[in-house]
Amino acid sequence: MSSLEIKNLHAKVENKEILRGVNLTIGEGEVHALMGLNGSGKSTLAYVLAGHPNYEVTEGEVLLGGENILDLEPDERAHRGLFLAFQYPTSIPGVNVANFLRQSYNKVQQSRFMQAHPDAEYKAAPVAEFRKRLDEKMGQLRMDRSFKSRYLNEGFSGGEKKRMEILQMAMLDPKFAIMDETDSGLDIDALRTVAEGVNSQLNGQLGALVITHYQRLLNYIKPQYVHIMMNGHIVANGGPELAEELDVKGYDWLRQTYAPDEPFVGDEREAAPAGPAGAPGITVTRTLTGRS
Ligand SMILES: Nc1ncnc2c1ncn2[C@@H]1O[C@H](COP(=O)(O)OP(=O)(O)OP(=O)(O)O)[C@@H](O)[C@H]1O
Ligand SMILES: [Mg+2]
Repeated sequence: MSSLEIKNLHAKVENKEILRGVNLTIGEGEVHALMGLNGSGKSTLAYVLAGHPNYEVTEGEVLLGGENILDLEPDERAHRGLFLAFQYPTSIPGVNVANFLRQSYNKVQQSRFMQAHPDAEYKAAPVAEFRKRLDEKMGQLRMDRSFKSRYLNEGFSGGEKKRMEILQMAMLDPKFAIMDETDSGLDIDALRTVAEGVNSQLNGQLGALVITHYQRLLNYIKPQYVHIMMNGHIVANGGPELAEELDVKGYDWLRQTYAPDEPFVGDEREAAPAGPAGAPGITVTRTLTGRS
């Protein structure tokens, strides 16, 4: 069982409430897309799910396969099969790609083995077996083998970093993956290659939350459900047609349809005062310049 249930999730960063009651259930093996304006809280949700220490959960629950994961450390969440492909992957100078992947692969394998056989002794997979798997996955993603000996993301182009994220995902074989704007920065060919790589992992058991601004990605990675986030919560749910409608009509239509009275982060209008139900006013931080 690896469904993901997010219930009334509230979270803040730097004392500012960003997530304001997110509700979302993703069944085992389902693919859901999450869209929404810049600054609406999509990456914040991804970070909170992965356990980033800067984000404080103030209310709500997140169940992975029925288990509340909010008290678990990020690595414990990863061991339970949760994976986050970052919108902005960081580079780690001095950490070689092959070593990094081998260590994380072994850790995840070990943890899974221990969960299944608590009394048995774990033996790491032979190096040859790991190398074979790595070569196979790099081949699928059409990545040059020379990346293995480079430092993680150091000097990688934007698109190369995104491929590296999907390579990690392919190696770790998660049960649930969050992909945060994996399509941004990819050229057209790379988008197709990466989407094929992702699709080869979507075998009916891997659940996924695909965060994107563009319908184009969803032509390749086909979600069953599409959700729109605004002001830190989900305002619209639908099927793939919702992404298509959004692509044609734009976010203004969305706001007028789903949240006509709601100011949002980035809006030029005055923020609304805190409501009686405890909904906080929203700090206006930026000027809206259009869709990204
Ligand atoms: N560390 C932080 N300090 C202050 N504000 C933050 C911090 N992290 C996030 N925020 C704010 O939280 C809001 C939501 O940001 P988030 O990155 O989740 O948006 P997003 O929906 O992913 O946007 P985009 O589509 O541009 O990636 C933004 O207004 C952002 O500035
Ligand atoms: Mg983001």
